[in-house]
Amino acid sequence: MGEALRDGFTQFEATGQDWRTAPLGLRSRSRYLHDGRAATLDEAIRAHDGEAQGSVTRYTSQSAFDREALFAFLGTL
Ligand code: HEM
Repeated sequence: MGEALRDGFTQFEATGQDWRTAPLGLRSRSRYLHDGRAATLDEAIRAHDGEAQGSVTRYTSQSAFDREALFAFLGTL
């Protein structure tokens, strides 16, 4: 944020002039999306529509192996 927006709070590696973006914590969740309608990451991704429709098309064209790699990556966010 720089000096102008410095709040002085330290959170983990974020110093008083950084903003720590909260982790999504997807690894520890049992439901997904704002209303919890998706029970799995697969369901959550397939539920994307509108501007994100292209992501669904690309996701569904991936191999099962690559989808598992994506889930593993999402779990780190
Ligand atoms: C590889 C592409 C993408 C993946 C793997 C992905 C994955 C996800 C996942 C797992 C969630 C659920 C998060 C949660 O429950 O906290 C989510 C939510 C969301 N995503 Fe994506 N996403 C992708 C692309 C996009 C794109 C391109 C957009 C917008 C143009 C988008 C917009 C959103 C929005 C608005 C939500 C929240 C919806 C809700 O809570 O109901 N996503 N996404």
